Amino acid sequence: MSIHYFDTTKTFHLTARNTSYLFQVVKEGYLAHLYWGKKIKEYNHSNELRFVDRAFSGNTVARDRSFSLDTLPQEYPSFGHTDYRNPAFQVELENGSTVTDLRYVSHQITKGKPKLDGLPATYVEDIEEAETLEVVLKDRLTNLTVILIYTVFENFNAITRSVRFENNGTDNLRLLKASSANVDFRESDFDLISLPGAWGRERYVSRTALRDGIQSVGSRRGASSHQHNPFMALVSKETNENYGDVFAFNFVYSGNFLSAVEVDQFGYSRATIGINPFDFSWLLEPKEVFQTPEVVMVYSGSGLTEMSHTFHELYRTRLCRGEFRDKVRPILINNWEATYFNFNEQKIEQIAKCGKDLGMELFVLDDGWFGKRDDDTTSLGDWIVNQNKIPNGLNALAQNICDMNMEFGLWFEPEMISVNSNLYKEHPDWCIHVPNRRRSESRQQLILDFSRKDVCDEIIKRISSILKSAPITYVKWDMNRHMTEVGSASLPPERQRETAHRYMIGLYRVMEEITTKFPHILFESCSGGGGRFDPGILHYMPQTWTSDNTDAISRLKIQYGTSYVYPTISMGAHVSAVPNHQVHRNTSLEVRGHVAMSGNFGYELDVTELNQEEQEKISEQVSYYKEIRPVIQFGHFYRLLNPFAGNETAWMNVSPNKEDAVFMYVKVLAEPNEPYRKLRLKGLDPEKKYHVVELDKTYYGDELMQVGINIPAMDGDFTSIMWRFKAE
Ligand code: DGJ
Repeated sequence: MSIHYFDTTKTFHLTARNTSYLFQVVKEGYLAHLYWGKKIKEYNHSNELRFVDRAFSGNTVARDRSFSLDTLPQEYPSFGHTDYRNPAFQVELENGSTVTDLRYVSHQITKGKPKLDGLPATYVEDIEEAETLEVVLKDRLTNLTVILIYTVFENFNAITRSVRFENNGTDNLRLLKASSANVDFRESDFDLISLPGAWGRERYVSRTALRDGIQSVGSRRGASSHQHNPFMALVSKETNENYGDVFAFNFVYSGNFLSAVEVDQFGYSRATIGINPFDFSWLLEPKEVFQTPEVVMVYSGSGLTEMSHTFHELYRTRLCRGEFRDKVRPILINNWEATYFNFNEQKIEQIAKCGKDLGMELFVLDDGWFGKRDDDTTSLGDWIVNQNKIPNGLNALAQNICDMNMEFGLWFEPEMISVNSNLYKEHPDWCIHVPNRRRSESRQQLILDFSRKDVCDEIIKRISSILKSAPITYVKWDMNRHMTEVGSASLPPERQRETAHRYMIGLYRVMEEITTKFPHILFESCSGGGGRFDPGILHYMPQTWTSDNTDAISRLKIQYGTSYVYPTISMGAHVSAVPNHQVHRNTSLEVRGHVAMSGNFGYELDVTELNQEEQEKISEQVSYYKEIRPVIQFGHFYRLLNPFAGNETAWMNVSPNKEDAVFMYVKVLAEPNEPYRKLRLKGLDPEKKYHVVELDKTYYGDELMQVGINIPAMDGDFTSIMWRFKAE
């Protein structure tokens, strides 16, 4: 059992493998947070709540001057009575007031984990894997019922939270804010880790000390975004990869989000995570229900590596789905950086054929195959093959590629519409827009209004008909702009601010239907690279194009930051041409290979133009990756040297049975008179003897992890090594 309720003290104790989470029903039915952290055997209120009269903290119970919500650590704080801190939710009543008062009514503990209707979420395969607690709270004045849902994944050591709002009253209610989780820590001596970025440099690691007041990360762009990832961790000052407390939150959502922390007057810190309340509201009519997306909460008592391992295991096996979840992924060759829009059937077949000869397994036809798309100004929405470029049709092209014994994949951008398209001529109101305002373009395109059922249905139809028309086994699902002038022609004025969230619900339905209809297709998501690398999308598509920036040196930081939360198998990583198209840097094929082989591997360059030496090198890389692929894609990932801290990066993957490991090291710039570097490895079996294939030397795991291994001196900039370790 992982959820216990103690009736005498009305205390809930949730226990996962290494975690305890505690809260209690206190005076008047308020829910007070007690503890989240390392697992304890038994809780006897050593940190019992203390009540004292505090000036300017008003009292909830008449004449009880010691009881104020302003000083109470809470589970799901409401707005307007006596708590002045950041509320977890806010509701507007018909009379215009925005005050609510939630009190405990009942609770229920069940085995397993119920599905979140229409929303992506972690799941169980066996009912015994998890337990779920639903705590029912009520605002007596309005009959608003708020159900806090907690699921404990015992063995994965994770807790998920979400909230369901039910309007059981007779008046309309309007949700102004509806967070999915709130934790009130009775301390604030934390650093805040987040993963901010931009196009081409996604998920850089940021770590700053908490300060008084509110600090937050979030998106108002209609997508989780390149700029901020829906991840936040509070860590103790001394926390590093191997040591220290970590309290991590990851929001399973792909739209506007807000993760905020408020440090209050008594040094408590309140973490609140959910849909961004900015420009959000949701009309909840009597009998209607609003379900928030879920937050995955991970505690680690031994640093960031353990946090990442927990996310990786949970996401790889209980968030991602489908027949590719547990399969090694194909090595692909994508024509984007090879040709951009400038290709024809013959060129595509040549690239595919060369790729095949070099050992690659999947050819991906990127943007430009449809409508009149010869550049990015036109045709999104017209999902009909471009006869000028592909005169024999998609089926014939795909068939020819399959006949080479190569799989065939295709690019789509299903959520978009070009103004210059037949779809826009037929349905100018199908895009997100507000009446009489400019429709701002971005990459000369608008966004289809996926909050509308008719729009979603038509797109499902169009995409499905292409997918049925040819032997397609892979889809790259792109999304290349953020929302502006957010509104929907199909919603009444009082529901306009629901558009952004309704869009996400529509998108999730489209993704669910298409991925279910085509279970044999491997889907990779993309948003101008990694602009929507979030657990929401991973639920439908088990891999993501990590960044449009394919430069090996830039990728060190991008892949390192991404690894905080997302498993290696989910990270698309390709070798591209030099000078690199994004940063114009020249690096060796070797370092490009080593960095890309640390992820879900592929190529993105004109392989028809390689010289003999390059062909040989690439063919070697492809066979090398085929050998290490299971370890890279299903192994445990260890960060060894941090690219944000210095000139070197190192990481390794170790197979779950510790029989195999792959180690990668990159030195960015050459240094004069360099010191000798040795590095201690991680994750090996101390008792096992490992053969280091590239060095033809053998060491016990304990020596490699305790003493370390010498890194050879390497001349020049951008140098790297990759070594395989095999237990004897
Ligand atoms: C952005 C993607 O990230 C690229 O890989 C490529 O597919 C282009 N879009 C195509 O327009």
